[in-house]
Amino acid sequence: MRLPDGVLGMSGRGPDWARWVDRLPGRLAALLDEWELTTDGWSMHGYCSIVVPVRTTDGGRAVLKVTFDVDEESEHEHLVLGHWGGRGAVRLLRADPGRRAMLLERLHHEDLVTVPDLEACEVVAALYPLLHQPAVPQLRSVSSYVERWAAALATVPRSAPIPRRMVEQALSLARDLVADPASSGVIVHGDLHYLNVLAADREPWLAIDPKPMSGDPHYELAPMLWNRMDELADDVRAGVRRRFHTLVDAAGLDEARARDWVVLRMVLNAHWSVEDAERDGRGLCADERDWITRCIAIAKAVQD
Ligand SMILES: Nc1ncnc2c1ncn2[C@@H]1O[C@H](COP(=O)(O)OP(=O)(O)O)[C@@H](O)[C@H]1O
Ligand SMILES: [Mg+2]
Repeated sequence: MRLPDGVLGMSGRGPDWARWVDRLPGRLAALLDEWELTTDGWSMHGYCSIVVPVRTTDGGRAVLKVTFDVDEESEHEHLVLGHWGGRGAVRLLRADPGRRAMLLERLHHEDLVTVPDLEACEVVAALYPLLHQPAVPQLRSVSSYVERWAAALATVPRSAPIPRRMVEQALSLARDLVADPASSGVIVHGDLHYLNVLAADREPWLAIDPKPMSGDPHYELAPMLWNRMDELADDVRAGVRRRFHTLVDAAGLDEARARDWVVLRMVLNAHWSVEDAERDGRGLCADERDWITRCIAIAKAVQD
């Protein structure tokens, strides 16, 4: 099978990625054969996977998703999709965790980017209670990640373009949230935004692509604020606040707790750009500076 250019390009990210891309045609061919699938249209892809439309032997429409197999993020995707059993999320039909392969119910091409942002926030808020079920024991906790991320944030140089006051605030929030037992215990999707919600027949909208952890429902909001920011260009502060309050109100969340997680996540996002540049021994590029400015604007907007 010829891989889409976007997937071939993933090879450039490093040796682990190159190895994964090299093995992908063989892996796909073996899965198609073993699971008795026939291809049924052009392959799609996201950042770290290939998604091949297929038909099963009974003619059913499905997709075969194979994900990059070195990172931990997607390790438990099949577990939570199985646990959700199709409620609020795409249905898992079959999985081979060793090959990071899943056969999934086929959904429509249309995602939540096609819907005005506040309407999309209402859709996503209605998915939260379906997805935020008691955590399965295999999941890593958000708190364990935050501990690690905050330790790195504590070393950010004073010259970094993140206001020192915000770094201190994020470190203090991280300490409080990690110490709070309510910060773990439910399944959080981890990457729930406009592109990861697809239209369906059996329900209007279903989530795909979880990067699941054991966490707190209030952790979930931030990607709905930082995606589609271009649409807010004329008044970022008001636009972010409208989305934030729509999510909090529609999902019945605690505003202060949701705000704390947004502030922490946006400062961490900003810090990761600084870290990337440091690791490569270079200065921040224009895109990274712009992204850091956006992260700070969101963290400020939810606190005004
Ligand atoms: N069940 C599905 N039905 C139809 N299309 C899908 C399905 N799952 C994924 N896709 C398509 O493949 C793309 C990448 O899949 P996704 O699960 O988001 O992977 P990634 O982790 O790489 O972002 C999606 O944006 C969507 O266009
Ligand atoms: Mg995706």
